[in-house]
Amino acid sequence: MRILFYTPQIHVQEAWLTELQQALPEATFHLWREDAIEENALPADYAVLWQPPAAMLAGRSDLKAIFHLGAGVDALFKLGDALPPNVPIFRLEDAGMAIQMAEYVSHAVLRYFRRFDEFDAQARDGVWKFLPPRKKEHFTIGILGLGVLGCRIAQSLQEYGFPLRGWSRSMKNIPGMDCFAGDASLGEFLSGTQVLVCALPLTDQTRDLLNHTNLATLPQGAYLINVARGAHVVESDLLALVQNDHIAGATLDVFRQEPLPPEHPFWQEKRITITPHIAALTQRHESILQIVAKIRSLENGAAMSNITGRVHASTGY
Ligand code: NAP
Ligand code: GLV
Repeated sequence: MRILFYTPQIHVQEAWLTELQQALPEATFHLWREDAIEENALPADYAVLWQPPAAMLAGRSDLKAIFHLGAGVDALFKLGDALPPNVPIFRLEDAGMAIQMAEYVSHAVLRYFRRFDEFDAQARDGVWKFLPPRKKEHFTIGILGLGVLGCRIAQSLQEYGFPLRGWSRSMKNIPGMDCFAGDASLGEFLSGTQVLVCALPLTDQTRDLLNHTNLATLPQGAYLINVARGAHVVESDLLALVQNDHIAGATLDVFRQEPLPPEHPFWQEKRITITPHIAALTQRHESILQIVAKIRSLENGAAMSNITGRVHASTGY
């Protein structure tokens, strides 16, 4: 079995290759490099990759599957026609990311709920001042996307006793959560959401979803936490709604352009908290275990759900 591997992060290439080799000793791994033209062209069974150049996949219809080292595959689909048609694409499902998402979102929610953002600002000015506690019944959290990550986020927030609502394409039945499905219910979902958490995949249907109309449907003083992709948010619309106090604050891990350019107005807005796309990092060990298990299942002839042909029942790509 021959497997192509690629990540642009040169400093971790060796570590990935060593651990992959240990987990799948019967395979030969080849690090795809632009200058290794002859080796690259040899037949291969699988590709394991992150942010590959188009040249790596163009014409590779010999592959039995492509494994993407991330949960979101929007960047991979940007390769367009360079993706070999009919080769199944597998993304990471949790693989150690869901708990990180739950930590990140719980932290952001509790920071707003317990007013730590305001106490921090007071402390910087040397101000000792009581602020009345918020009530949970007025702090409904609405989660956009009830997939692998959205459900894990919900599970953590449920333990704190927040009222929860969730929105997805297909209707869910999740105990302790008010569920909404489809575009027709988005307005109703948003109008009762005090903290909006975005955990959607980026697709043609979800791009620019968080625009002025939808963000303005949130109640006055609502918060936004975006851990999905920057292109869900129309950034100028969000900024305007923060500046006119409709949105009280936003915690953003992802942006339309990353790294966020130094001149971007978000840097100057104190009510916008910025992190550099770290909400859930790919975990090497867990990812390799998941990918190797899937390769072994495929080799044994098992059928497994995947993202093929850009149309997939669970992601909408
Ligand atoms: P997932 O399991 O595929 O879940 C996606 C959810 O979104 C599903 O509930 C799906 O609804 C819903 N959805 C998709 N299209 C929709 C639409 N048009 N309208 C309403 N709901 C829609 O994905 P995941 O593993 O939870 O990952 C979510 C995203 O998180 C990834 O795509 C990635 O972009 C992002 N992410 C970010 C980081 C970070 O560090 N910031 C790390 C990992 C992932 P159905 O259930 O009805 O199909
Ligand atoms: C990271 O953003 C991922 O999609 O895994």
